[in-house]
Parts: sequence; C-alpha cells; structure tokens
Amino acid sequence: MERLQKVLAQAGIASRRQAEVWIQEGKVQVNGQVVTELGTKVDPEKDHILVKGKSIQKERKRTFLFYKPLYVISSMHDPQGRKVIPDFFRAIQERVYPVGRLDFDTEGLLLVTNDGELANHLLHPRFEVEKQYVATVKGVPDEASMEQLRQGVYLDDGLTAPAQVKMIHKREEDCKIKLTIHEGRNRQVRRMCKAIGHPVMHLVRTRLANLTVKGLKRGEFRELSASEVAGLKKLLSGERKQKRQK
Ligand code: URA
Repeated sequence: MERLQKVLAQAGIASRRQAEVWIQEGKVQVNGQVVTELGTKVDPEKDHILVKGKSIQKERKRTFLFYKPLYVISSMHDPQGRKVIPDFFRAIQERVYPVGRLDFDTEGLLLVTNDGELANHLLHPRFEVEKQYVATVKGVPDEASMEQLRQGVYLDDGLTAPAQVKMIHKREEDCKIKLTIHEGRNRQVRRMCKAIGHPVMHLVRTRLANLTVKGLKRGEFRELSASEVAGLKKLLSGERKQKRQK
C-alpha cells in the first residue's frame, strides 16, 4: 500500500505537491469514492484511481484471436440486438474491440484488441497486411476467370490489386477457392467473385498476416502471447520498410 499522492506522482501525471492539491480539492476518486484525506493508502495494482474523472492506470494491452461465427456483427453494439463482439468477451476486463470487420455472413479469424497502435497498423493500407479467405462459390470458374481474379477485377470502387488465387476443391455445382488479398474494401471477396460470375455462397477468413484460425472452434478465442504480438509488429514494420524501398 502506498500514499495516494505518491501513487499519483509515480504515475507521471503530476508532482507530489500538485497531486496533494487535487486530492484536497476533491478531484481524486478511489474505487468510486472521492478521497480528500492526504494520507490515504491505496494499492495501485488493485484500486481504481480517477483524477478529474480519468483513470491513471494504463490498461494492459491485450490481443486475442477470435473465430467469429456466422451471424455475429463485428462491432461493439448493435441497435437491432444481434450478437456482437462483447457478447463473447464478457470475462475480459479490458475494453477490447475488433480490428476491422468481417461481414455478418462471413466467419473466421478476427483480431480483437485494446492496442490502438496495433489495430491502426493492421488496418492501414500502406502496411498491406495479407488476408486469406476460403470462398465457396457457385459453379466452377474457368482458368481465364481465375486469372482475372489474380490480375484484378473492376469493381464499382476501382480495379482490385493483384491477388493470389487457387482452386482447392471442385464439385459439379460449386467449388472452393483460396484467395489472398491485402486490400480491405467492403465485401471485397464477395464482389470480386460476383464480378466473374461466381457468387460466394460461404466465406471464411483463414489467415491474417502470420496468424491462422487453426486450433480455434467457432466462437472461441485465444490470447496472443507477448512474443506473438512482438512478431506481428515486427512483420508489420518489415512490410512497411519493403514498401518504402519499392
Ligand atoms: N470480403 C468479403 O466479401 N467479406 C468479408 O467479410 C471479408 C472480405
């Protein structure tokens, strides 16, 4: 246990003298109660301390790999009351949010984090983060159509960037195609496949950068270790450097 003014000073938000003034002015709360007593002892690990309404404690950065099931909205709230991300993360104290979106009717890998810097890097087009999908499409595209997907197709928001595209399973009526893209346009895979005349019937995101859904069942998540997060950040900074050199 430490004296409150010492904890405030150690948090780097004020000198000990300034902290004492704020305490006496009633601007500091501990666990929801205003504290004006200067000698009050607190546990900075456990007590929740607010100065002028703002928490002094830095939230621990946490990042999870989540297997989003079908028919879940990739957001924090849905006015229509459909299932959203917080429904799966109730046991996690930190306010974690999804990095980007998967459609309501797409399942698969979604990163969920409270690390704003990591989220921004993953979403920023200049980092060209790879996303891999397996799409089940209607019919079986011929090689010319597959090549079109690889080279780029014209959508109403412009030509898509080159993609890696591979047929992985063929049946009479439909087939499975693995697509690796690095753009993140709205409903991009669905629109690409529709543009070549083979609409998507089912879509799964199987990989994001170096992270895959392997080992996760629908609705499950696992936390990334510190070294996995470091690896991801390193990969992102490497991709940026390569892009600058191009
Ligand atoms: N492309 C789509 O069409 N939908 C998704 O959810 C993700 C990529």
